Amino acid sequence: MKIKKAIIPAAGLGTRVLPASKAMPKEMLPIVDKPAIQYIVEEAVNAGITDILIITNRGKGIIEDHFDHSIELEAMLERRGNTEMLETLNKVANLANIYFIRQKETKGLGDAVLRAKKFVGDEPFAVLYGDDVIVGEIPAIGELCEAYEKYGKSVVGIKEVPDELVVKYCSLKTERIDDKNFAVSDMIEKPSLDKKFSNYSILGRCVLDSEIFSILERTPLGVGGELQLTDAMRELAVKYGMIGVDFSGIRYDMGNKFGMLRANIEVGLNHPEIKEELKNYLKELVKTL
Ligand code: UTP
Repeated sequence: MKIKKAIIPAAGLGTRVLPASKAMPKEMLPIVDKPAIQYIVEEAVNAGITDILIITNRGKGIIEDHFDHSIELEAMLERRGNTEMLETLNKVANLANIYFIRQKETKGLGDAVLRAKKFVGDEPFAVLYGDDVIVGEIPAIGELCEAYEKYGKSVVGIKEVPDELVVKYCSLKTERIDDKNFAVSDMIEKPSLDKKFSNYSILGRCVLDSEIFSILERTPLGVGGELQLTDAMRELAVKYGMIGVDFSGIRYDMGNKFGMLRANIEVGLNHPEIKEELKNYLKELVKTL
């Protein structure tokens, strides 16, 4: 079955990037000249997804504005004959059918996903975390959708991470199928090191069966008193097995300060407008370090 719907949870408080995220949603922090969430929407669209629900909360209205027309700006660009930028802005406003819903209380990623129950219905759907940007030749969520079509099971995007990150993310019980696919039979959210299954963690992407909603509805609050998506996905993994896809792109965590900086430098080094200037600047800078 082709995956046509995606949800982007973007209702977190972003405390790790304060004060930048005090009034500005962290999902709107730029990587060179585009906000993080635009990269994520484009990834979904490039994977053939047509309908996207973004889960926001109070104070994140500018995410809606970003994917709408900006009438004054467009009129001004037209008057000045800047057709290139006019086209760029038009494209942003017409990327996909984008819908919005609010998570009224910040009760965890699982609770945010539960807000999408009506939008999703009984189809499998993609989840792209609003602060995880993945840059690569092919859309990471497309690699997961392919795995869903091939194996008919829910899929998570995974990477091997060091111990200091496993304890902050989650740990998966995995068995390798081929060079990029793994069978996942169990998982644990934010484990202590003696409880970890492996160093494989879920990083920002999944494709889930709609059964996840009924599981979430009866999943008790987990780590941090929040409804954890991992706790509900664990039930799918134990009951049916899941697939882990070691996706090929590079993932940038826009929810932490170093991740933001790294994304800007690495994407900047490939950006046609600034790459030469940035490269020369960095070469001079490293001499002084
Ligand atoms: P994080 O774990 O990064 O949480 O959420 P956070 O609250 O945004 O950030 P910190 O830890 O305070 O710095 C992962 C993803 O889940 C979304 C976030 O927006 C992010 O895209 N999320 C998290 C929600 O939509 N709702 C929540 O209640 C929690």
